[in-house]
Amino acid sequence: MPSQPANNPAGNTLPGVKNVVLIASGKGGVGKSTSAVNLALALAVDGAKVGLLDADIYGPSQGVMLGVPEGQRPGVEDQKYFVPIKALGIKSMSMAYLVDENSPMVWRGPMATGALRQILTQTRWGELDYLLVDMPPGTGDIQLTMSQTIAVSGAVIVTTPQDIALLDARKGIEMFNKVSIPVLGILENMSVHICCDCGKKTHIFGAEGGMNIARQYQTRLLGALPLDIDIRERADSGKPSVAADPESEISLLYRAAARELVSALQQLEQHETHGQNTQNSPGFSIHED
Ligand SMILES: Nc1ncnc2c1ncn2[C@@H]1O[C@H](COP(=O)(O)OP(=O)(O)O)[C@@H](O)[C@H]1O
Ligand SMILES: [Mg+2]
Repeated sequence: MPSQPANNPAGNTLPGVKNVVLIASGKGGVGKSTSAVNLALALAVDGAKVGLLDADIYGPSQGVMLGVPEGQRPGVEDQKYFVPIKALGIKSMSMAYLVDENSPMVWRGPMATGALRQILTQTRWGELDYLLVDMPPGTGDIQLTMSQTIAVSGAVIVTTPQDIALLDARKGIEMFNKVSIPVLGILENMSVHICCDCGKKTHIFGAEGGMNIARQYQTRLLGALPLDIDIRERADSGKPSVAADPESEISLLYRAAARELVSALQQLEQHETHGQNTQNSPGFSIHED
């Protein structure tokens, strides 16, 4: 059963797609794209039908992470619809599939939002349990376009435990609250550095930031991923951790986070079906100003 989207832009659901989940942060470089692809792969390992939409119009990265060869284009149906590219067991769509990799995307706001709206509304995903959307950083036009164009089930906020990133994470949470998109949980990334020589754990960016922010906004900490060279190398080489070895220690962390995400969606759905007041419930938060 799909969750009832909280924002409802004229009931504009994507045909066949049960849950749309945004992977977002207020800040760039915190690991949204890496987390999005590994969460998507983790959901697929558990048997779900998964799509991944790269909405980072200015810096799309999912093509590389999924090992899609440069120059491969999505199919076209009925002269109007894109057919997503299948890779590593999931379907994907990205701006990078439509433009020349070497041409910089120097777009003005309206062009970028127009392009996003087009890939949002003109991609034929088929049947999907989850469509994860890898969002660009920030709280601007693209985020607004997203919330106004399609019905979204919820958002995951990726953050590092660093204070400044947490400030940006707060901005992200507040923005989703304003546009009535439930925050499903926080994914803390680069939470601890594990020395590859001695195995010593160091909290480079401070400890427990993600947990603190989750508590403050009455949402879940979906998981915490270490700063690990393996995560970066595998993502860069087109075979992210979960695809390379679904049973590795790192992959199990992503898979546990993906299950938490599913559980947060189910909890949201139950509250909606039972018509309960969603305020202050533990799985998500809706704040009024
Ligand atoms: N947990 C991690 N450990 C090591 N490197 C990481 C981790 N998460 C992300 N990275 C690396 O950090 C860089 C930024 O990550 P990315 O997912 O592109 O961030 P964003 O999408 O938020 O801009 C990439 O080179 C990525 O491989
Ligand atoms: Mg990114």
